[in-house]
Amino acid sequence: MAYKGAHLAFKSRWHKTDEELCRHSMSFILHKAIRNDFFQSYLYLLERLPLVKLYALTSQVINGEMQFYARAKHFYQEVPATEEGMMGDYIELSSTDIESSREFLRKFVEGVGKAGTNRALDCGSGIGRVSKHVLLPVFKSVELVDMMENFLAEVPKYLKGKEDRVEMYYCKSLQEFTPTPQRYDVIWIQWVSGYLTDKDLLKFLIRCQNGLKDNGVIILKDNVAREGCVLDCLDSSVIRDLNILHSLVEMSGLTILREERQEGFPEQCVPVWMLAMQKDPGHS
Ligand SMILES: C[S@@+](CC[C@H](N)C(=O)[O-])C[C@H]1O[C@@H](n2cnc3c(N)ncnc32)[C@H](O)[C@@H]1O
Repeated sequence: MAYKGAHLAFKSRWHKTDEELCRHSMSFILHKAIRNDFFQSYLYLLERLPLVKLYALTSQVINGEMQFYARAKHFYQEVPATEEGMMGDYIELSSTDIESSREFLRKFVEGVGKAGTNRALDCGSGIGRVSKHVLLPVFKSVELVDMMENFLAEVPKYLKGKEDRVEMYYCKSLQEFTPTPQRYDVIWIQWVSGYLTDKDLLKFLIRCQNGLKDNGVIILKDNVAREGCVLDCLDSSVIRDLNILHSLVEMSGLTILREERQEGFPEQCVPVWMLAMQKDPGHS
């Protein structure tokens, strides 16, 4: 009879199940999903790990991981490989964004115990707007990763004379990308974290952490919801609130060195925050 309990418990989330299916739950996917949910609930009860809620939350919000990623790719196929394309409808905010990013970055590089300035990784780089204006003025070289080949193809022209300081281009989705261990002084993740599910963002942050050199820093800059997790159907992304981001960061084993809200954007815009993070030496 245990299957009946499980069936009832999961009925609201697993609409497609019926008693029969639960009883003969030989379906690998269903079985795995229930087992994962059970394990996460168990962890939540034991340790009050809020991530349990997050998994449920994003999977409810995005309604299917594969579609979520496919839709974003579809959206970007129509986006021009220009600064305007990278900024959506907000090109006029680009210089304010860049100025604040530069100031924020300065706090974590060069100096005793700070990050070096040899190599940075630009994640979800697009045509390299952040590399050009924020990273290349500070780092000897940069590497760029983006899922769209046509954006990366535009980088050499866009960087105008600085393209020889790009060491590597990776045409990859971040959920499938692993930075080479111990390679980067700074890993910059701007306006792309919302395209990853909680689970993939968490795993990506862990892989980024391994990609850092000693004293290396990860900087995440993104839109932040006032509360909860909000889906943007247009480009298939989610906007998370700060509590959710904090939980993910904490779970990844990173510690937040500093966080700042972007200033100078119009009030009607979604708030944008910058988080600087580093390996937590105490985290195993
Ligand atoms: C809003 S643009 C921001 C570009 C750049 N970070 C900037 O600030 O100018 C988002 C970028 O993320 C990329 N992107 C979206 N989802 C991605 C994913 N899952 N993996 C890698 N890149 C992704 C898009 O192709 C696009 O270049």
